[in-house]
Amino acid sequence: MKKIDVSQLQMNPMELIAKEWMLLTAGCEERGYNTMTASWGHLGSLWGHGGGLPTAVAYVRPQRYTKAFMDREELYTLSFFPQEYKKALGYLGSHSGWDGDKVAAAGLTPVFGEGYTYFAEAKLVLVCRKLYVAPLVEEGFVDKSIIDECYPGKDFHDMYIGQICEVLVKG
Ligand SMILES: Cc1cc2nc3c(=O)[nH]c(=O)nc-3n(C[C@H](O)[C@H](O)[C@H](O)COP(=O)(O)O)c2cc1C
Repeated sequence: MKKIDVSQLQMNPMELIAKEWMLLTAGCEERGYNTMTASWGHLGSLWGHGGGLPTAVAYVRPQRYTKAFMDREELYTLSFFPQEYKKALGYLGSHSGWDGDKVAAAGLTPVFGEGYTYFAEAKLVLVCRKLYVAPLVEEGFVDKSIIDECYPGKDFHDMYIGQICEVLVKG
């Protein structure tokens, strides 16, 4: 994959995240890693000077195995795939790393960087550095119907805001 500047990115984040989905991956070769499918998240700019830092927000429920890796590691990746890998993403979003090597079962190839992991089959990878973690809280919901709809078990997501520090695209 080749490195590009974040300013060269051309995509619709709503389509990319919500419709194509992404793999959220934390961990590395030495310490182990885990990945899960995510379709909720944001890309934008926050903090810093001169327009803000390029940032990504991901939302992880407490019961995900990936969460332990997100909490332990400083870096993580968001990987986006060509359409043909949708089935693999479906698999990784319905099986847990608690139960075994789901990456091998999904047929994806991990690529290990310095403190992070992504996948050889990805068309786009955002390497992120964790800046801020906080749970979504019940009192924060102005529209309470979202609680009934998305959190009947009150398992509110943790929000992870990361600085996008590297952008890799299929070369
Ligand atoms: C299309 C799709 C989108 C998903 N989006 C999210 C998400 O944004 N946040 C989340 O916590 N779980 C999400 N999930 C569920 C996790 O991917 C799923 O529970 C996964 O098995 C967790 O794996 P793990 O236990 O190995 O971390 C999604 C699943 C699918 C299929």
